Amino acid sequence: MRVVVVGTGHVGLLTAATLSAIGHDVVGMDEDEEKIEGLTKGISPFFEPGLSELIDKGTTAGTLRFDVAPEAVGGAEVLFICVGTPARVSGEANLVAIERSARAIARHLSGPIVVVEKSTVPAGTAQRLWRVLTLERPDLADEIEVVSNPEFLREGQAVEDSFRPGRILVGARSERGFDGMRRLYGPLIESGARLIETDIATAELAKHASNAFLAMKISYANALARLCERANADVTAVADVMGSDPRIGRAFLDAGLGWGGYCFPKDLQAFERLAARLGYDFPLLREVERINDEAIVAAVEKVKDALWNLEDKRIALLGLSFKPGTDDVRLSPALALARKLIDEGAEVVGYDPEAGANAKSDLPELVVAPGVYDALEGAHCIVVCTEWDEFRSLDLDRAKELLAHPIIVDGRNLFEPAEVRGRGFVYYGTGRASDPGMH
Ligand code: UDX
Repeated sequence: MRVVVVGTGHVGLLTAATLSAIGHDVVGMDEDEEKIEGLTKGISPFFEPGLSELIDKGTTAGTLRFDVAPEAVGGAEVLFICVGTPARVSGEANLVAIERSARAIARHLSGPIVVVEKSTVPAGTAQRLWRVLTLERPDLADEIEVVSNPEFLREGQAVEDSFRPGRILVGARSERGFDGMRRLYGPLIESGARLIETDIATAELAKHASNAFLAMKISYANALARLCERANADVTAVADVMGSDPRIGRAFLDAGLGWGGYCFPKDLQAFERLAARLGYDFPLLREVERINDEAIVAAVEKVKDALWNLEDKRIALLGLSFKPGTDDVRLSPALALARKLIDEGAEVVGYDPEAGANAKSDLPELVVAPGVYDALEGAHCIVVCTEWDEFRSLDLDRAKELLAHPIIVDGRNLFEPAEVRGRGFVYYGTGRASDPGMH
């Protein structure tokens, strides 16, 4: 099918590349000329394992191309809207980009089309989208079908999630909408992807509900971490016990610096604001956010406990991205921690396998080291902020030589306490029993 994808960010680019790889003729559109120019040369605007190869495959086969001109919409059978829906100061989702892109493409529509709302949006947005499109093009009112098809990609595993999605969720109001999406995703469905079909509002709301639940699960683990630190219990062992119950599941029970990224923070706030707008107060969601903020403060307290005054201290952060496998630092807990440590007068140096440049532009006061051992040179303590695999094999003896003090605050419970303490380090885990030797 002829597909146009509006917005070539984390969602749009994966959508365009995946659909071209399963046989569709795809145009990726973005108003950012520089981004489109780079993509035409096969340069992805962000790091995502396997994405560059997927883009190359599509552009080489001629099934994927990129364009800035809205005219490229002409002749499309399916049009995806994958533009950003950032949080306003109020917490409401900012849907200006959705409306703006709808108006920009409307005049170029040329016949029956399924317009797919893939950006994460509050329930009721598809209705708005349909009204904007049909007001711009009353002549096509019977030809325009708006459906909701929320994405469930995880950054760092997005290519994997695109080809083996846990489920494909489609919300539509007519058979024509469902039929178009069944044809579009046919190859993925044939290879086992589960297709769930609902009404539109259900699909929109289910996306917010899913992300808010995952954030809640992590915050629950972080609240348990605070409790375990007081009870001298081990939150990772508690999580293992809980997770052995299939009704709970072990995933997303890892206590640490908490959740960040472009999705959870904005989706949780947007969901809470949507509930309020619909007349339902949802305080649980505010508590999920409070516990998450508390996780950063708890890490700062550990650094202070280890170092006393932070002025004149150099602190090395291992990991700057919001999670491993990505160069994305948007609302990264590592940078939230760095800001607090800098505000307390510390010199903060960070290293990240992929996100160093993005971290530096996001937080210019941060010193970014070219390698993990460069970051440790003369540092008074290490704080593990992102659990990159590279850090699991850190040479602890070499690290001890480089550090001013052999102290590790493990913000992601990456290390085994006994092993690290056995190598002469003072070790602070997250929600883990304190050092028996410490008083
Ligand atoms: C999330 C959802 O998982 C995905 O389905 C949705 O489409 C987009 O938002 P993503 O934001 O890419 O994906 O990352 P995810 O792997 O969910 O992690 C989000 C944050 O939670 C990261 O900061 C991660 O470090 C943190 N996290 C995750 C924890 O702190 N503990 C955990 O146990 C799991």
